[in-house]
Formats: sequence, structure tokens, C-alpha cells
Amino acid sequence: MAKLIDGKAVAAKVRADIAQEVQTLKKLGVTPGLAVVIVGDDPASRTYVNNKKKACAEVGIYSEEYALPATTKQSELMQLVETLNRKKEIDGILVQSPLPNGLNEEAVVEAINPEKDVDAFHPSNVGRIMIGKYHFLPCTPAGVIELLHSEEIEISGKNCVVVGRSNIVGKPMAMLLLHQNGTVTICHSKTKNLTELCKSADILVAVVGKPNFITADMVKPGAVVIDVGINRNPQGKLCGDVDFASVEKIASYLTPVPGGVGPMTIAMLLKNTVTAAKMHHGITE
Ligand code: GUN
Repeated sequence: MAKLIDGKAVAAKVRADIAQEVQTLKKLGVTPGLAVVIVGDDPASRTYVNNKKKACAEVGIYSEEYALPATTKQSELMQLVETLNRKKEIDGILVQSPLPNGLNEEAVVEAINPEKDVDAFHPSNVGRIMIGKYHFLPCTPAGVIELLHSEEIEISGKNCVVVGRSNIVGKPMAMLLLHQNGTVTICHSKTKNLTELCKSADILVAVVGKPNFITADMVKPGAVVIDVGINRNPQGKLCGDVDFASVEKIASYLTPVPGGVGPMTIAMLLKNTVTAAKMHHGITE
């Protein structure tokens, strides 16, 4: 049976370290600040934003929420980003995705000052990740790496297969595994020999967005399986991209959903906000 990687516990440890760091910064007169922008009334986005604000409060990070109606115009949103770019108290800006139809998300992300882009979605930050000279790592992939480190799972030299190629998770995930000297393959919907490739993985990361997509026949016995999916099954229950019941029997490590990667994403956002505050105040330690 696979050992489950407890993302809640690892995230709690990361948050405790951040809380300490925030206390130290406050003694220097610096309070990290995060602005969270939500447009429209998507219930999942509302839950994520509430969780992000709560997590900030728990570690002593100052946060502001900007909740705009779905009828907001592109120019209004761009203006808000410009205001936040200039606002001294704000070190990090996060515009919750997805935006309502009709709004150009790409333009909004590109308007964010890259030094406040705590999601690391801005093309300049994406490029920095590519060359390994980054301010921030994207939250979910960074959280996965942290989970692997927490169990002292070796990445160097291992066959790492990422299933999914989204800009916000799949692609940067592959790059971070590469930075850790993994041998990385990215699979996607057009991949021909998916089962075979997945089965070659020592570390398999599922970022597919389809419930129970990765089944036991796609997993090498003893592999480490990281499930980034957050889906609802037909019964409405939260589930990942990995068929937990069958894969648990053959993997060496597995992340549960919920309670695996999910809690790490917010912990990494807090970390990026603290990094941004230090950068803005010229604090190098
Ligand atoms: N929507 C779902 N996940 C994320 C995230 O990590 N950042 C932002 N901005 N929006 C999201």
C-alpha cells in the first residue's frame, strides 16, 4: 500500500515557518501585503479567495479583497491593477482565475508588475522560471516539489512524467522537475502511447482535470504518484485525476484529494508574498 503524503501537515509546517518570518519582518517595520481580485460570482473562486484571505490572516500577512461584478469592463480591471501596482502596502497581486467571459485574462496578467506577480503567471516570470532565475515559483508546482522534498524523494535522474500541459501547472511543473535533474516527459491529449509512458514513470504527476483518469494499469509498481486534480465525480464527491483505490495498492507514495497538493498551493502563495515584500524592501535574508 502506498504511503499517503499528508499535504495538510506539510502545508501547516510551511505556514508556521512563514508566520515566524512575518513576525521578523514586522519588527523591521515591514508587513507583507496581498491584494486579491475576484470578478463575478463563481462559487469555486469565492471559496478559493476566502481561503487565501484566511490563510493570510493566520500568518500575519495584510490582505485586501477587491470583489468586482461580472459586468466589470476590461478598462476598469486594468485600472485597478495599475492602482495596485503603485500601492505601497501591496506586495503581491492575485487576480483569481477564471475571469468572466468577455474579459481578457492574458492582458490583465501582463498588466501586473512582475515583481508583484505572486502567481508567477506573467510572461516575464514564466521566462525567468525557464532559465532558473526566478523571483517566484508558481504555487502549485512549487507545492508539489515541496511535498516530494518532505518525504525525501529523490528527483535527480528519475523518470518524471507530467500528464497535462497547462500554462499554470503542467508546463511549469515539468520545468521545476527538470531543474531538480529529473528526466521529464510531458504527456497530453494527443499523446499516442500514454499508458506506456506513464508506466515508465518513477514520479508521475497528474494534471489532467478528469476524475480518476490515471488507473493502476498506467502506474509502475513502486512509483510516486502526485495527484494535482480537483474534480467532482458523478456523485458530486471531490476526487482527483488518479483512481485512488486501485493506484494506492501499487504506488509507493500517493497524494490524497483532498488533503494532498491543494493545501500546498496556498502555502506557496503566502511564501511568494513574503518573498515579494522582502524584495520590495531590499531585505535579502
Ligand atoms: N484559479 C485557480 N487556481 C488559481 C491560482 O493559483 N491563481 C489564480 N490567480 N487563480 C486561480
